Amino acid sequence: MSLLALALLAGWATSNTAQIAKGREVYETACILCHGKDGAGNPEWESEIRPVSFADCGTTAEPSALWKSVVVNGGPKHGLADVMPAFGEAFPPDELDAVVAYLRTFCKTADRYPPGDLNFRRLLATGKAFPEAEAVLKTKIVPDEGETEMEFVYENRLGPRFQYELEFPVRPAATNEGYGAGLGDVVVSGKYVLAFNPARLRILSGGLEAALPTGSEKKELGSGTTVFVPFLAFGQGIGSTVFQTKLSVELPANTSKASRTFKYSVGYSLPPIGLARTGYIAALELTGSYNRQNRSHEQTAVIGVSKALNKLGHVIASVGMGIPLRPSEGPKPKEFRAYLLWDFGDGPFWTGW
Ligand code: HEC
Repeated sequence: MSLLALALLAGWATSNTAQIAKGREVYETACILCHGKDGAGNPEWESEIRPVSFADCGTTAEPSALWKSVVVNGGPKHGLADVMPAFGEAFPPDELDAVVAYLRTFCKTADRYPPGDLNFRRLLATGKAFPEAEAVLKTKIVPDEGETEMEFVYENRLGPRFQYELEFPVRPAATNEGYGAGLGDVVVSGKYVLAFNPARLRILSGGLEAALPTGSEKKELGSGTTVFVPFLAFGQGIGSTVFQTKLSVELPANTSKASRTFKYSVGYSLPPIGLARTGYIAALELTGSYNRQNRSHEQTAVIGVSKALNKLGHVIASVGMGIPLRPSEGPKPKEFRAYLLWDFGDGPFWTGW
């Protein structure tokens, strides 16, 4: 067992040479005609629809379960072209695993990339560990306070493990308390995958955010100082459920404008209803912040559900509700949360419907 774990750590994509050899046999009999010798598509095969190149290491972000399902059920089931045939039960499970394992080896440096099997569904409140190529539109509405917050997030990958991110928070209208409308504090951040283990379904990332003082202080849109936020994000698959957590500390450059705050968020996703990639996933989260200076501790429980809107599963929406638990005194306004995300690493928005 420990030897197997070591072997998998040594190279999740390349270490199982017997399986890869078997996969190669399957590939050469059933796939090579269209997908080509090097996985980049057979140049002599005439087709209007060219398959993605498996040599492109961006494809490591695809979960194996999706690829297996494409082979078994064919392209159209996942919003892809019907040129990709459905092989049905043509391959026993071990051959199916083997051919997908072989596809992984076309990317020559696949072992350095965290595999898509660790790309767990995004939660409403808890940040992800997996590096994404994604655009996300988030919103939080607190009806009792007449407050709406919007946030546009752009995330992209650089190399196997690094992701950078830009966040643009916007308050579209003034709130009941008279907080003004406008752009909030823009956040620039970087995240790096520190460790991952596909056999144990776990991934750990660390990073640093910088919230820049772009929002007006007068309108309560910004803090008026740069806030540095080192963080850790962790994801753990447990059977078909997932545990995700993110811990961070807000360190303002000017502590007279904002105070140091510890933030935490943990989430647990229930087993998907339908396919993991496209089906409904319900999740429970607990998110909070603790400010030592004034000893204030805020905490909110969030329940939510998410679902892919298209067959390919790269456009996903989630809605949910936040119920404040702390502080125990004072009003506890309910909040509604939602996001719409497009994983542009998987293709244009309009493909795969
Ligand atoms: C008749 C040609 C043909 C054959 C045979 C074929 N494929 Fe495909 N495959 C395609 C095309 C074309 C696409 C791209 C469809 C699209 O993007 O809409 C595709 C897509 C795929 C995808 C999805 C890739 C992605 O992430 O978008 C996988 C996985 C795949 N093929 C695996 C296989 C395997 C494994 C075999 C052999 C068992 C195989 N294919 C045989 C033509 C073929």
